[in-house]
Amino acid sequence: MSLPTVSIVQSHHNTAALPPQPCPDSIKAVLPPDRCAVAQEMISNWEGYQSTPLLNLQGLANAVGIQSIFYKDESDRFGLRSFKALGGAYAVQQVLQQVLSQQPSSGSVSLTDINDGKFPNEVKNITVVTATDGNHGRSVAWGAERFGCECMIYMHANVSQARQEAVEAFGATVIRVDGNYDDSVRQADLDAKENGWHIVSDTSYPGYMEVPRDVMAGYTLMTTEAMDQLPESVIPSHVFIQGGCGGLAGAVCADLWFRYGKDMPHIVVVEPVPAACLYESAKAGEERIVNITEESLMAGLSCGEVSAIGWEILHAGARHFTTISDAPIGPLMQLLAKGVESDEPVVSGESAIAGIAGLIGAVNDDQLAREMNLDHQSRILIFGTEGATDPELYEALVGVPAEAVLS
Ligand SMILES: Cc1ncc(COP(=O)(O)O)c(C=O)c1O
Repeated sequence: MSLPTVSIVQSHHNTAALPPQPCPDSIKAVLPPDRCAVAQEMISNWEGYQSTPLLNLQGLANAVGIQSIFYKDESDRFGLRSFKALGGAYAVQQVLQQVLSQQPSSGSVSLTDINDGKFPNEVKNITVVTATDGNHGRSVAWGAERFGCECMIYMHANVSQARQEAVEAFGATVIRVDGNYDDSVRQADLDAKENGWHIVSDTSYPGYMEVPRDVMAGYTLMTTEAMDQLPESVIPSHVFIQGGCGGLAGAVCADLWFRYGKDMPHIVVVEPVPAACLYESAKAGEERIVNITEESLMAGLSCGEVSAIGWEILHAGARHFTTISDAPIGPLMQLLAKGVESDEPVVSGESAIAGIAGLIGAVNDDQLAREMNLDHQSRILIFGTEGATDPELYEALVGVPAEAVLS
């Protein structure tokens, strides 16, 4: 079986990463484990909760020349088709609880009260808002509908019509903004201040940390499920994790560190070349902004500004920061859709495939593979963060619709 050609375009060995050790208190302060535990408990009580599958892609591992690839398949998370269902919607639940708790008329309000719909009249007067390139907005809109509040979603000009319709299906109002993702974040922020709306962003910046911390706490449910699903004797040696603003990668890195301590896997962050804000920040040793002049096919990863919290965790915990081009994305999506040898077919979306692309690119580069200690004994954990979130694009890239892959 020949694999599509994949190359790592840029790579940075992060010598600022801490040597192997138990998760330091400084990281636990950034993303507190007890806050993650609360998020995990709440989300697992939502109606319809099911843990997503962890697939053992042995055929692909054989073709790549490593011991194993475990693929956490988020393509059907809560029917929203991406892991983002865990973050934005949970942060909406938190925001509603906090806003109602500040209203003397509501008395004491718990997160469970919000889930149980105990304050419908109060909740429907609250508006949540976010900027999105698709999946986070879908999660916030879904959470708003589920808990009964109003929702405004800001999308930049290049977000597809299909992604807009998916958000509108949950009753949210979509506002289009000229420019890129970062412009839509700024516009949402301005309008929220003017209208008294509550921002539920997945990216953190000075002065806005608490909501994104809850978003990331929600994401840790995915990592915790994966660690629980791995065979008992297996600790992954490497995790190739895709980076947008770094909220996802930061949450994954922290949660792995909480559980595995000094045995934490070697974390490799993978970003698209035109939106490599984490790579540039790692190279500079401090936060850097990338001006996005070209939208990557990996729409969910097309962010030019790092999340402050994500960056803080990754700066200390990730060992490599890499970039890839769009070229192998379609061929790799096709490969997973067919399945290598006896691997079952997987619906892996454009942003989901980045981890596999990074892995193959690194294995193909002898020097880099040595630097990363990647060899035939490596056990890789990958987060397949989305399925066919844009069904038309999926079909155009894979040649058949997602439903046909699964049948
Ligand atoms: C499917 C998918 N994967 C990965 C990411 C990256 O997440 P983050 O921006 O938190 O780094 C996103 C972000 O929207 C996404 O939609």
